[in-house]
Amino acid sequence: MTIGVCYFPEHWPSERWETDVRQMADAGLSYVRMGEFAWGRIEPERGEFDFAWLDEAIELVGDHGMEAVLCTPTATPPKWLVDEHPDIRQADADGTPREWGSRRFTCFNSPTYREETERIVRNVTERYADNPHVAGWQADNEYGCHDTVRCYCEDCAAAFRAWLEAKYDDIEALNEAWGNTFWSQQYPSFEAVEPPHPTPAEHHPSRLLDYYRFANDSVVEYNRLHADLIREANDDWFVTHNFMGDFGALDAYSLADDLDFLGWDSYPTGFVQDRQPGQATTDELRAGDPDEVAMNHDLYRGAKREPFWVLEQQPGDVNWPPHAPQPAEGAMRLWAHQAVAHGADAVLYFRWRRCLEGQEQYHAGLRKQDGSPDRGYDDAARAAAELFDLAPVDAPVALLHDYESLWATENQPHSPDWHYWSHLRAYYDALRARGVQVDIVSPRSDLADYAAAVAPTLYLVGDDLATNLEAYVADGGHLLLGARTGEKDPHNQLHESIAPGPLADLAGVRVTQHESLPDGMPTRLRYDGETHDYQTWASWLDAEGATAVGEYTTGVAEGRAAITRVDRAPGSVTYCGCWPTGRLADELVTDLLGAANVAHTPPFPDGVRVAERDGYTWVTNFTSEAHSLSVPADATFVVGDETVDAFDVTVVETPMTTLTLE
Ligand code: GAL
Repeated sequence: MTIGVCYFPEHWPSERWETDVRQMADAGLSYVRMGEFAWGRIEPERGEFDFAWLDEAIELVGDHGMEAVLCTPTATPPKWLVDEHPDIRQADADGTPREWGSRRFTCFNSPTYREETERIVRNVTERYADNPHVAGWQADNEYGCHDTVRCYCEDCAAAFRAWLEAKYDDIEALNEAWGNTFWSQQYPSFEAVEPPHPTPAEHHPSRLLDYYRFANDSVVEYNRLHADLIREANDDWFVTHNFMGDFGALDAYSLADDLDFLGWDSYPTGFVQDRQPGQATTDELRAGDPDEVAMNHDLYRGAKREPFWVLEQQPGDVNWPPHAPQPAEGAMRLWAHQAVAHGADAVLYFRWRRCLEGQEQYHAGLRKQDGSPDRGYDDAARAAAELFDLAPVDAPVALLHDYESLWATENQPHSPDWHYWSHLRAYYDALRARGVQVDIVSPRSDLADYAAAVAPTLYLVGDDLATNLEAYVADGGHLLLGARTGEKDPHNQLHESIAPGPLADLAGVRVTQHESLPDGMPTRLRYDGETHDYQTWASWLDAEGATAVGEYTTGVAEGRAAITRVDRAPGSVTYCGCWPTGRLADELVTDLLGAANVAHTPPFPDGVRVAERDGYTWVTNFTSEAHSLSVPADATFVVGDETVDAFDVTVVETPMTTLTLE
């Protein structure tokens, strides 16, 4: 398990590089990522390539015993290229072109941009094809960053029409699949279809869903172009990409086949401010929310079921969230440990040195702008010294996350409080509070390896998906289905057979009614003899072949089934019709783990988490309070001891179930 850093030699005089690279090596770093925004420096004029500076930087990295991770520089095309071909830019939904002057403003479907991408990627990859110091490549940088997965330009309009024609063949099939009789939205031909530009009322949900799918497929194709060219130059290189945290617009599973492993960019104190509703606590503003960060680790690991990399790790204060509190002392080391506990093979801090110029001057590096160490440097060096090689994470539980269900519920949330990720987190956090390792995977994937599976919102369910889940349960899987599961078909139309549609027989349940409720209305139910709260959503269940195990106790829903369970020996299916809060999520999850015989811990308090990997247990403390552990006499401490100080970590060689918090 290794540590690295992202470096921009092009921002500093070449006389300084040797010192920088030596200091990286002194800190025990193994990888140096470079080049992702350097097109303007590599090709200052069309066809005039300057690789000397990058050659030298790579050489220095190699000379100091490290390896370079290079990036294709396509997120920032130079001005001359945009002036030659202004049509490579994306357009907003109202047709306004996205201007040069920042980054990621080019269209994934532009034939010209694809040609230019091919040209620059060929040039950079062929240049380093035989360089022994280059370990592999990151394709582009954060596809979709700054809300750019979806573009509304003319090239996208044409590509969307072709995509629809390939999918439906006949325009009447499209009209039928979408349900275009509603509000007279029938199309006479594929040529008549437009991307969803602004219109007074909301757009047709089926049209939006297909537009989101199409936009996603466009990124998949664009990424494949990079991956193929990189492998063509040198098949031994790895190919990865840096995905983003809590990011829904791009389906990470759909890119996984073209990548050797997935990477992502982790900025914990930023995410608690701008990704989820609600006010972050003081401790979260200092170190982030461990479950929010871990959910992303588990997604980018689960998408490929392979170890992942953190390609950018927050190094200190950052420029883009609303506020920039300094992270807690030690937080930068804590994050690296947590990532490794969740299956990371490498953690690269972003960036080496605070930049004097440009948009990110208010973003820390491991070193200050004068080159002296900043707060993250010692943390990174400590992490590098403490980490060691480990087998991959072996997760007993799958959490079934479905991007299309996210897209569809986001467009018809039916409540301002419906938030796909927050609802998913109710279940995820409950599992993590019990120490369970969770793979976040596609519901369409093979689930046979998992003793239990939780599907918070499988909103769109067709026959294929139902068959996959039936096979899982028949094989002994224990399945927990959450609110809004099975409401719609894959075209985003309601099931005529009422929810959960094709899952009704498996779950032994019908949803007879649903309601969304604002905060302040009573939302309580009884489960297992105790009263619990829920929030936002209530589906009323009719337990046809199942047993009602939970019942609403308030409002018009009073007396109706809220939670049902059916024994499908050797498996079982539970359907929870509401959004569980607090102890209810914990009760549901522990009942599931019990049925599936999955080892788990007593509940850990918020901010303190355990995770087991390869026989070692990490106790990560994201709080400002110290905690004491009790461990078996023969357990060996590898990092720290039985006192886990504020924002500190202990690693102990013992199964997680053998330790307790005093
Ligand atoms: C990431 C991006 C980096 C840098 C960083 C700042 O989203 O990939 O280039 O901008 O954020 O935190």
